[in-house]
Amino acid sequence: MRQQETRLALIGNGAIAGEIIRCVSGNDSVSILGALVLPEELDMLSDHPLVSSLKDMLAWKPDLVVECAGHSAVNDYAAPVLAAGIDLMIISIGALADKELYNQVKEAASGSSAQVILPAGALAGVDGLVAARRAGLTRVSLTSRKPPLAWAGAPGVEGVVLEEICEETVIFFGNAEQAALMFPKNANVAATTALAGIGFEKTQVRLIADPAVKRNTHVLEFEGKPGLYKIEMAGIPSADNPKTSMLTAYNILRMIEQRVSAIVI
Ligand SMILES: NC(=O)c1ccc[n+]([C@@H]2O[C@H](COP(=O)([O-])OP(=O)(O)OC[C@H]3O[C@@H](n4cnc5c(N)ncnc54)[C@H](O)[C@@H]3O)[C@@H](O)[C@H]2O)c1
Repeated sequence: MRQQETRLALIGNGAIAGEIIRCVSGNDSVSILGALVLPEELDMLSDHPLVSSLKDMLAWKPDLVVECAGHSAVNDYAAPVLAAGIDLMIISIGALADKELYNQVKEAASGSSAQVILPAGALAGVDGLVAARRAGLTRVSLTSRKPPLAWAGAPGVEGVVLEEICEETVIFFGNAEQAALMFPKNANVAATTALAGIGFEKTQVRLIADPAVKRNTHVLEFEGKPGLYKIEMAGIPSADNPKTSMLTAYNILRMIEQRVSAIVI
């Protein structure tokens, strides 16, 4: 049944949180209660209340918590929020590549009336992928292409001199489980693809360092009973965080607004 109002608390108060707050400010059906931040961020400029403890956030009695902070926040807060019976939207989905954490989150939700909601984030086509899974899928692959230096720091390119890559080079080919561990910066999209489709072990991931590309691009391909689908994305980064695609906040917003909309699409 459609909710009359959603009382929203955020975990994290960065680029994604800022965009969500700006977008819902005119929506009378969504109220922002505040954000849970790191203790050192408590004195940051903010139009809404900030707290640094889960207990203080739960005291606001939100009916939806949106995590937009990072993998450590999923680790620290997901299970207790769900155990308190509060729906939780997780955007740092790569954290769920950790099987133990995934099971812990699933159990916490199953043991309460709360739901875990996983938005499409930076990806398009997740709706079709989930629908195709129900119909029957045989193959799912994700190819991510970024400028060489965008892969810097990942354990998967240790020892690779990225500055010397002068033509497109496949730096990883394997499954989503290995990809999430070796390339944590790509973990969110790989994990979203895996969870929406055929799982971490069967999802193929190909990562390419390409000096010719300016934007991060992803190609999601899936094949099965309903046919062959190929979706290509070249997203624009968020104005406040170049590592985050602009689309991410809007995919969260879409799911928040669906809770209170008379027509859902
Ligand atoms: N699913 C996707 O496709 C996708 C796409 C982009 C980003 N993300 C995820 O969203 C997260 C947030 O993105 P952003 O652009 O808003 O980042 P950001 O760096 O602008 O903001 C995140 C804020 O959360 C804070 N934070 C970190 N850990 C915290 C914790 N344990 N408790 C409270 N606050 C904490 C940070 O200090 C920072 O202020 C990223 O870390 C990434 O994991 C997911």
